[in-house]
Amino acid sequence: MFTSNPFAELSANIPVAVMQGYIILMVLLVIVGTILDMMHKKSAKYFFLNAEKEKKNAKRQVGVGEKAVIAASVLLNEVATSGEFCNPRRRLSHLLTMWGTIIFVATTAILIFGYPTPETPAPAILPQLWHIGALMLAVGGYWFWFFIRVDVSAEGLTWWRLERADLFILSLLATATFALLWSFTQYRGISGWSTLFLVLFALSGVVLFGGVYWSKFAHMFFKPAAAFQKRVTRADGSREDLPFDYDPRDPEVQRKFPDLAEYMGKNPPNMGPGIRRERPSHY
Ligand code: HEM
Repeated sequence: MFTSNPFAELSANIPVAVMQGYIILMVLLVIVGTILDMMHKKSAKYFFLNAEKEKKNAKRQVGVGEKAVIAASVLLNEVATSGEFCNPRRRLSHLLTMWGTIIFVATTAILIFGYPTPETPAPAILPQLWHIGALMLAVGGYWFWFFIRVDVSAEGLTWWRLERADLFILSLLATATFALLWSFTQYRGISGWSTLFLVLFALSGVVLFGGVYWSKFAHMFFKPAAAFQKRVTRADGSREDLPFDYDPRDPEVQRKFPDLAEYMGKNPPNMGPGIRRERPSHY
């Protein structure tokens, strides 16, 4: 099953143009959904207004070269390795979900456009990656759904309680699950079930990519921009009006706050930011 290209098998029943049209439609849905989401939340407007405000509070200029270095570290840290997550379980689950989705979606497009029929056999690695991507997404996603998500892990709510905010994770899970079930039943030649799972797979894709306006799908585009902006405000000293992390043992800090010794003694301990003192589990 892992080396079989399910789309090539499908081409016996469904024209290749229909499969390719479906992918193009999904891309268009994501573009339209993201634009509508941006217009509705006015996120781009507030993002640029905020950036202007921070620029006025800047203590120093950040040049193009430094911005390129910042962009590279955002790509490496916040994007590729989900570096914003403090909780290692959430981070690992996000890494599985994110990279699983990327691998699964990319190989779907490559298989459908590059190797859509048995006459154009795909290199074995592609169907393998397609299945591995779907499995990674399913493992990371179900782990998140049953154990990690705030409602369940911190609020003590049941896993079956649904909200509109769950649209993204549930449509991701449905897409990966039905894709795997479709591939399995197709490989085993169980044609009735295979047709049912194919229809459910296609429908979950429509909900996932067509639901961008209502779900948090677009966070994958907005979060990197926000992470970049945050790093720029640290580099230019505006810091979004947040205070510095002062170390009370630093002579410079003691000069700045001469009454420090009065409150904390001659050798004040550095207690660090309180927020890191216990595992993040309260929201
Ligand atoms: C294919 C790409 C991605 C997928 C499938 C994905 C998936 C998810 C999921 C399922 C959640 C939990 C959602 C929920 O609470 O319902 C989440 C949260 C989060 N994601 Fe992603 N993500 C992707 C890309 C990214 C990128 C590129 C970034 C950052 C640069 C990012 C940063 C975050 C953060 C910080 C959270 C937690 C905070 C929040 O819930 O707003 N994600 N992501």
